[in-house]
Amino acid sequence: MKPKTCKSPLDDVEEIGRIDKSNMLSFSVQAPKHYHKAAEISEKIVVNYQKPDNVIVAGMGGSAIGGELLKDYARSQAPVPIEVSKDYTLPAYAGKRSLVVIVSYSGDTEESLSAFLEAQRRHCMTYCISSGGSLLEFAEKLNVPHLRVPAGMPPRAASPYLLVPQLVLLEKMSLVSGVSESLSDASRNLEKISRENAPEKPAESNPAKLLASGINGTVPVVYGFGIYRGVAQRWKQQFNENAKVPAKWEVFPELDHNEIVGWEKAGSLNRHFSTVFLRDKNEPLEVRSRIEITKNLMPKASKRLEVWSQGKNTLAKMLSAILIGDFTSIYLAVLRGIDPTPVPTIATLKQKLGETGTKERIIHELEKLKPIQS
Ligand code: F6R
Repeated sequence: MKPKTCKSPLDDVEEIGRIDKSNMLSFSVQAPKHYHKAAEISEKIVVNYQKPDNVIVAGMGGSAIGGELLKDYARSQAPVPIEVSKDYTLPAYAGKRSLVVIVSYSGDTEESLSAFLEAQRRHCMTYCISSGGSLLEFAEKLNVPHLRVPAGMPPRAASPYLLVPQLVLLEKMSLVSGVSESLSDASRNLEKISRENAPEKPAESNPAKLLASGINGTVPVVYGFGIYRGVAQRWKQQFNENAKVPAKWEVFPELDHNEIVGWEKAGSLNRHFSTVFLRDKNEPLEVRSRIEITKNLMPKASKRLEVWSQGKNTLAKMLSAILIGDFTSIYLAVLRGIDPTPVPTIATLKQKLGETGTKERIIHELEKLKPIQS
């Protein structure tokens, strides 16, 4: 009998491929290439809108997370507020002086189509980002500026194509700066991260494989701060959708005012959780002290893991932490023997919602709209 050489499924590239049937890993391995391509595509963006009073990014799930990341990136520089709206309706203040960016990878998500309808009715300055569907069909028909991104990916894997255009759009409208330079630095940094966490890299020296092994069997709770707020949210969503596990995210300093008390008397419940702290070599001193104090107050029973971002600029750091999280969630799926790509519950939900007629009603209302005069 041939001796078994591989101890962990994560050290067996063939086994990884057998479980990751649709090759979700390839999107992470090729992330630098996708960011590069997304930057090229985004050069096409032309906007003739005046400077808005506020920005609203409307989308759901894997399409909305780019808005959350944009919001964190822009927080220290944008002169206007940015809100991410994940609903059928837009906030009451949305109007002629609002820039509304509708992001839906499929272009067929009913909440996003409804937000698009509302943006047209309220004469908002609208921009659409999608790979097709009804959203692009109506954007073309109604002369609404839009960007068509490559189709054929799971929306959460298409995040370079959903985030970069938003950054470029805001840069072209002089609401943020430094995007182009940051992106080329970030892509170089991602190449390193991709190599370090690639499936061929053995578990003992592969940070994402080590994290996945540490988290396996627990509910991961991800703690971010500052520019890692949306990143923590993305980690949670990737654990849900790729690894099919419940997960939670929180953000410093707010978590110190409620979350920490939740661990106080959790008793044996604690061992069912692991906490992942997102860290930065240059995190502000007040954040560093807070994280260290918080860690010492946490119960010893739950697993505690740390992830350090890499890179020289804000965007590079954010994207590095995202990519490590994406790899980790996929390796966690592999450890659980689950194909990371299909999301059957979301598919079933969308199918059942389709039967309720809501989307048809929205489409019917969209059909009544008149094209914008150019
Ligand atoms: C699937 C995924 C979902 C979708 C969401 C909205 O990979 O990540 O969260 O992103 O259901 O659909 P789209 O992105 O097509 O508007």
